[in-house]
Amino acid sequence: MPFPRSFLDELSARSDIVDLVGGYVSLTNRGGRYWACCPFHNEKTPSFSVSPDTQLYYCFGCKKGGDAVRFVMEMENLSYPEAVAFLAKRAGLEVPDEQTDRETARKRARLLQLNKDTARYYYELLNTPRGEAVRAYLDRRRIERRTAVRFGMGASADAWDDLLTAMTKRGYSKEELLSAGLIVKGKSGSFYDKFRNRLMLPVIDTRGDVVAFGSRVLDSSEPKYMNSPDTPVYNKRRVLYGLNLAKRTKRENLILCEGNLDIVTLHQAGFDNAVASMGTALTPEQVRLLARFTKELVLCYDNDNAGKIATEKALALLRESEMNVRVLELPRRRTETGELVKQDADDFIKFHGPDAFEALLSGSETGVAFRMQQVAGKHDLTSDESRVAYCQEVAGVLAEIPSATERSIYTVRAAEIAGVTAEAMELEVREARKRRRRAEKNAELRRDLNPASALQPSAREIRYDDLRSARAEEGVLRLLLLDPALFPQKPPPELRDFSSPLLRRAIEALCEQLALGHSASIGALGESFTSAEVSHLVSVSQAPESLANGAKALQDYYEIIRQQAQKRSGREEDPLLAAMQRRRS
Ligand code: GTP
Ligand code: MN
Repeated sequence: MPFPRSFLDELSARSDIVDLVGGYVSLTNRGGRYWACCPFHNEKTPSFSVSPDTQLYYCFGCKKGGDAVRFVMEMENLSYPEAVAFLAKRAGLEVPDEQTDRETARKRARLLQLNKDTARYYYELLNTPRGEAVRAYLDRRRIERRTAVRFGMGASADAWDDLLTAMTKRGYSKEELLSAGLIVKGKSGSFYDKFRNRLMLPVIDTRGDVVAFGSRVLDSSEPKYMNSPDTPVYNKRRVLYGLNLAKRTKRENLILCEGNLDIVTLHQAGFDNAVASMGTALTPEQVRLLARFTKELVLCYDNDNAGKIATEKALALLRESEMNVRVLELPRRRTETGELVKQDADDFIKFHGPDAFEALLSGSETGVAFRMQQVAGKHDLTSDESRVAYCQEVAGVLAEIPSATERSIYTVRAAEIAGVTAEAMELEVREARKRRRRAEKNAELRRDLNPASALQPSAREIRYDDLRSARAEEGVLRLLLLDPALFPQKPPPELRDFSSPLLRRAIEALCEQLALGHSASIGALGESFTSAEVSHLVSVSQAPESLANGAKALQDYYEIIRQQAQKRSGREEDPLLAAMQRRRS
């Protein structure tokens, strides 16, 4: 491995592909993707697209694709290491050498092991007499034992150096504990446990590593929540609490909440698709992470002022994403004294039950309502002129709604806001839709007529000998990218039956990345794959794949691959068939 993966991860985090590509061609946003005329072949209508979610580019015309590094290689005619150096310079990063890399990898592995041991320690403490107070707290919050187990919850002792002593005994140094954020240095220079007498919530990433801890006090003292600081293995901007479980949900969307305990309650009530961003505003990195696992995101922030502001900020960020976004607005609750009070998802489920939440979830509004409000805010709506401008702009928003019923409901609402008749507004929306359709059709037409796709070597180079098997092999590749945990053996032994050498090599390389403790990424396949091969793999990775039945799907793929392999070898071994084939050639 020429470059440390942690460095490449940092590099790609700091090299936003939309930004990068936007420096070469002019991009327009349509449907959460960015489009431009392809810089790699001649065309007049855009078939080159950049996805902010996956951070990959792909041209539907010439079928070239890849990540930021690949783009620079192609655009600047650079080798792989040169392109990496080019991007590093642009991002203000220093390219590390191999020595420091091995050192960092070793340290990271130690910290992850320390976190794991610590999680187990807290978990076990919960069931001892010293975990009594936390157990009582769990009861008060109606968190069932099996839920606590599912989330790996634990208890930190009511003492100053409990964890410090326990982990030192196991051979961890103070420096390591400090670096993991598990102890802090006091004014007198002595060390003490960061988490004391708290309910402990390990934060587990989608790879299954314990990367940090969240915690809650048991009474009303401050601070209520205390989380690990950023460490060499934890960046709070890139992790979502509960996603390790939610990534396997069978529900069609993911729900994003504010608090960790909201997630716990939701999962317990059957909403195993809930995740939280741990007390920070949603980040672009988290959006990308979410987009890997779902096509639809439901925002469910608290229904107070802060929650509304957070929702608006999140919506602004999500406009850059291909995900559908809906907003679930929790109603305020009326107390016995008649006062209206805020409630979060946890409160709501406890007062109204899971069915009521299910109803809210299915009725949650699309981002349309919010976007309409934002358009309204831009126009003062008192002058005729600004009302016309409002109608035209809001028609653009309404024209994007695919469902006719939903579109008509919002059209009426927009007409009311503008103070025009529903008919007038409808007309405006119909016009906007016509314009949209025309633009889309034209783009499609020209794309079909574009001879580039037939001429491109990349389209011809990658040929499958056994199409049926190759389709299944592609599925295996996608599952590996989405959920490496489905693969107890890396690489899987089924690889021997693969028909496509390229897919086999790709899976082997991705497994190697995983074995080194990195995430699997096509972008990072590096120089052992040609641009045409990477382009092909990117297009493979873009096909939809669901994790809901991941294990079953994987077995089905394996079965097809096995059958096809048998057929192929059978064909070779059948002497009659072989003789016939020989005569024909
Ligand atoms: P519970 O009282 O346990 O139900 O928590 P909550 O999620 O309802 O808390 P609240 O509405 O007060 O705060 C919303 C979110 O802000 C929490 O879930 C936390 O993520 C975050 N938060 C609240 N208090 C603190 C704090 O003291 N420190 C930190 N770091 N985050 C906090
Ligand atoms: Mn709460």
